[in-house]
Amino acid sequence: MNRGLLFRFNHRRHLTPTTVLRSRVNSFPSAAVNMLPESPVPRAVLVFAVLSIFCLLLYGAADSLRFLTFPSGSSVSFPYIFPSLLDSDSVPLSNEQKLETILKDAAMEDRTVILTTLNEAWAAPNSIIDLFLASFRIGEHTRRLLNHLVIIALDKKAYSRCKEVHSHCFALVTEGIDFHKEAYFMTPAYLKMMWRRIDFLRSVLEMGYNFVFTDADIMWFRDPFPRFYSDADFQIACDHFTGSSVNIENKPNGGFNYVRSNNRSIEFYKFWYSSQETYPGYHDQDVLNFIKFDTFVEDLGLKMRFLDTAYFGGLCEPSKDLSLVCTMHANCCYGLDSKLHDLRIMLQDWKHFLSLPPSLKSSSVVSWRVPQNCSLDALHHYGESPEKSVQEGLQQ
Ligand SMILES: *[C@@H]1O[C@H](CO)[C@@H](O)[C@H](O)[C@H]1NC(C)=O
Ligand SMILES: *[C@@H]1O[C@H](CO)[C@@H](O)[C@H](O)[C@H]1NC(C)=O
Repeated sequence: MNRGLLFRFNHRRHLTPTTVLRSRVNSFPSAAVNMLPESPVPRAVLVFAVLSIFCLLLYGAADSLRFLTFPSGSSVSFPYIFPSLLDSDSVPLSNEQKLETILKDAAMEDRTVILTTLNEAWAAPNSIIDLFLASFRIGEHTRRLLNHLVIIALDKKAYSRCKEVHSHCFALVTEGIDFHKEAYFMTPAYLKMMWRRIDFLRSVLEMGYNFVFTDADIMWFRDPFPRFYSDADFQIACDHFTGSSVNIENKPNGGFNYVRSNNRSIEFYKFWYSSQETYPGYHDQDVLNFIKFDTFVEDLGLKMRFLDTAYFGGLCEPSKDLSLVCTMHANCCYGLDSKLHDLRIMLQDWKHFLSLPPSLKSSSVVSWRVPQNCSLDALHHYGESPEKSVQEGLQQ
C-alpha cells in the first residue's frame, strides 16, 4: 500500500523533493497589525516596540526573538509576518472579506473564477509560475482568462512574487504549521496543506463562486470552457481516461477540476474533507478515489464527470491531437528540474504548432516531444523510488 502511494505521488503535482510547501502560523492578531500607521517611520518603530513587548509577554521571550530582527534596509518591516496582514487598509479587513473582494474583482459574469495555488519553489523566477502564465499568453483565446485567475499564495515569497507578476493574489494563511519547517510529500504538514486546500475550495463554493481549480504545472493552450459539461456539478481531469465521462473507474487527478457552486457541491466538499478521518494518512486525491464509489455521493445527487484526456491531457496520457488540446499537465513527473525541462519543451511544441500553415495543423502529424525527463525511466535514478514500486504502481 505504501508503495502504491509512493507511485501515485508521481502522478501528483506539488510533489517533488525540491518542491516544498512552506507556511507559517499567523501569530499576530491582524487587528493589531492593521492599526499600524502607513508611513511615519519613528511612530512605526514605537508601535513596533510596543508590539514586541506585547509579544514577549504573550509568547515568551524565546519565541518572540524572531520578531525583533530588523532588516538592514532603511525602513522598518516585519519579516516574519505574513504580508497579507500588512496591506494596511484603514478599516481592518478579515481574511474572508479580503478573499471576497479578490474573488469579486476576478470573477466572470457568472461568478466563475480560475484558482491556482503557489508555493515558494514554484514562484521563483523562471520556475513553474512563469511557464504557467506564459501558456495563457500564447494559448488560443486564453489570454483574457488571466483576468479571472486568482493565485493563492501559500507562503510569503510566493505572495510577493505573485504581486509582481499578477493582479489577483490571495495569501492563504495556514495555522498550526511550524514556522520554518518544510512540508515534504506525505508528511503530516504536507497532508495538512493539501487538506487545507479542499477546505479552502469549499469556502469559495460557499461564497457562491464556481471555480476552475488548476495546478500551475498545467499549460493552458485553449479555452477549456467550451469543453466542459454544462450540466455537471463536479468535473475533473484524469491521469487515465477510460473513454467514458461517467465511468467511475476513471483515474481522476485533483490538479484540474471545474466545480459549480450549489448545495450538492458544497455538501460534497464537506464530505470529502471529513473523509480524511475515515481514511487517515491519505491525501485528497486518494480519498477522492475511495469516496467516488460512496453511496453518499450518489444520494447527494452530485453530477460528477470525468474529462477526456483528448482535451485535458498530461504526461501520463497526452492529448494526442494538438488541434484539440486545451490543457496539458506535467503529471507523472518526478522532480522540479525534470518538470521544468519538459514543460519548456511542451511550450516550444505548442509554439511550433501555432506557426504551421492551416493544412498541416489539421493533419495531426505534429505531436509532442514529451515526456522526456519526466519519463518513468528517469524515476529509476532516484534511490528512494525502487523499480519494484514503479512496477507495482503500474499494475494498479
Ligand atoms: C440550498 O438549499 C437551501 C435549503 O434547502 C435552499 O434554500 C437554497 O436555495 C439552496 N441553494 C442552492 C444554491 O441551491
Ligand atoms: C534531462 O535529461 C537529460 C538526459 O538524461 C540530462 O542530460 C539533463 O541534465 C536533464 N535535464 C534536467 C533539467 O533534468
